[in-house]
Amino acid sequence: MIELAPSILAADFARLGEQVRAAAEGGAGVIHVDVMDGHFVPNLTLGPPLVKSLRKVTDLPLDCHLMIENADDFIPPFADAGADWISVHQEACRHLNRTLHLIKSHNCLAGVVINPATPVSTLEEVLDIVDYVLVMSVNPGFGGQKFIPSTLHKMRRLAEIRSQRRLTYRIEVDGGVGHDTVADVVRAGAEILVAGNAVFGNGDPIKNTQSLLKAATEAALLKV
Ligand code: DX5
Ligand code: ZN
Repeated sequence: MIELAPSILAADFARLGEQVRAAAEGGAGVIHVDVMDGHFVPNLTLGPPLVKSLRKVTDLPLDCHLMIENADDFIPPFADAGADWISVHQEACRHLNRTLHLIKSHNCLAGVVINPATPVSTLEEVLDIVDYVLVMSVNPGFGGQKFIPSTLHKMRRLAEIRSQRRLTYRIEVDGGVGHDTVADVVRAGAEILVAGNAVFGNGDPIKNTQSLLKAATEAALLKV
């Protein structure tokens, strides 16, 4: 099943509730929340209090993408604030197995993320633990960057490994997903599509969500 995950990073924070409701009305399946610490990535964004506020305005799952170094310290407060899914970077976790179990112990879905330069092979020992794998198709830190096509083969590889090993994780993609790239990522095997600027950048987020979802669903039908 294809789901669109609008990233609030590109939304107008002064009208966040309204923008999230618009994305939901357009058919968003998940709301993607980008958490940056100014260390692991060169940008600062938001924390648990914002997740707590979002929790009051939507019933959609909140997908918290932690681009932070000390994830273990922040998993409990994000879970308490209402996060449903929490993903951590392979590159930022010294004890990845422990961190993924910590996420699960808070009754959240656990995801692992890889940067464009990180190979899928680094995830071999955790693929049976995670609920989803997030393939970054830009270097994390900023919205509105250009999609890196050489990341597509990692989505294909993850789909291949999943069927070979009979695993159940879902494949998410994040960065530069828009009308020009959506069919490629779906054909490569991505099922959860994060989109920031393509949803909130220009025009109406309701219509943007609808049209991206339509393009993604059509690409998925052609794939079979
Ligand atoms: C980048 C973030 C993305 C970002 C995507 O570090 O993880 O989620 O919001 O934005 P777009 O879709 O504009 O590339
Ligand atoms: Zn993200």
